[in-house]
Amino acid sequence: MEILHNFSLKNYNTFGIEASAKQFVNVQNVTDLTSILKQNKTAKKFILGGGSNMLLTQNINALVLHIDLKGKRIIQENDDFVWVESQAGENWHEFVLWTIAQNFGGLENMSLIPGNVGTTPIQNIGAYGTEIKDTFVSCKAITIENQEIKKFTKEECHFGYRESIFKNVAKDQYIITSVVFKLTKRNHKINTSYGDILGELEKNNITNPSLKDVSNAVIAIRQSKLPDPKELGNSGSFFKNPILLKTDFEKIHQQFPEMKYYEVSETEVKVPAGWLIEQAGFKGKRFGDAGIHKNQALVLVNYGNATGQEILAVSKTIQDTIFKTFGIHIEAEVNVI
Ligand code: EPU
Repeated sequence: MEILHNFSLKNYNTFGIEASAKQFVNVQNVTDLTSILKQNKTAKKFILGGGSNMLLTQNINALVLHIDLKGKRIIQENDDFVWVESQAGENWHEFVLWTIAQNFGGLENMSLIPGNVGTTPIQNIGAYGTEIKDTFVSCKAITIENQEIKKFTKEECHFGYRESIFKNVAKDQYIITSVVFKLTKRNHKINTSYGDILGELEKNNITNPSLKDVSNAVIAIRQSKLPDPKELGNSGSFFKNPILLKTDFEKIHQQFPEMKYYEVSETEVKVPAGWLIEQAGFKGKRFGDAGIHKNQALVLVNYGNATGQEILAVSKTIQDTIFKTFGIHIEAEVNVI
């Protein structure tokens, strides 16, 4: 295990931002991970997974541990369900495709989400009506401080909308090393009710979709709206969809009756930030090499050589304008470093 110095992270973040790590190590097994943590007890550490949910606004003055743990296996099964364990460094989309190829159901709606398996619980990733918490059983994590291995059950993770314990009280304390999902082997719960999925299936004359059909539909929709980070640097949705108290929302809604919203509970509604940003005129706008994607206003993009600071400045302009226009504060979903 070699520690590299002043290592460029340009290829390790999907925004494609040029920033360097003071020290960088690629970690391929838990034994190495334990010893590197032990040997570098006092060093400041930064845990890097797929780099798909962060905006680097400065060089990282720390030891960057790139979690590259690989492997997936079936750990238990019965006639109806299978429990699959994936190591943290597996690419999420490849893992999803592998489960679909075995006819294991539950992850198909989350096809093509960038990033690695180990980071999916941190923000309870989700798309097209499904979230990780729907199939998540447990994850293993190691404490950075003294290398103890701890298992987190679903309840212990406190999942919420793009939220978990790992973003709150357990922040910066653990490195997730593997995740277990419980998937269906038969009687799959095909979920085509969200947004454009049904339309996409109808376009292809599919009436009784398989897991693969749903996955293909999601892939087609995502590819039509969301830029491929390999072609255009981005981090998916830059902002979270704001959740407002119904009482507050009703006042805003009177002023903007065309505002879209979804009920999330008896007292709260969620407003699509993409809609707010589009209405405020930002969709497709470009400021130097930083910009707002032309097909999905929630996504900020790097046209080439934008710095993290430039993208951050654009995000602040958007936040300020949305607040001035609608009185709604939108929060970043990506981690600004
Ligand atoms: N909308 C606009 N203009 C836009 C974008 C969206 O008016 O530029 C409107 C749409 O017309 C629609 C509503 O906003 O009525 C919602 O749009 P969409 O279904 O595309 O979903 P989203 O709220 O923009 C969320 C997730 C995505 C996920 C999709 C699909 C968040 C922050 N984002 O986006 O997740 O793929 O739903 O499930 O919750 C990610 O987290 O990186 C991500 C891409």
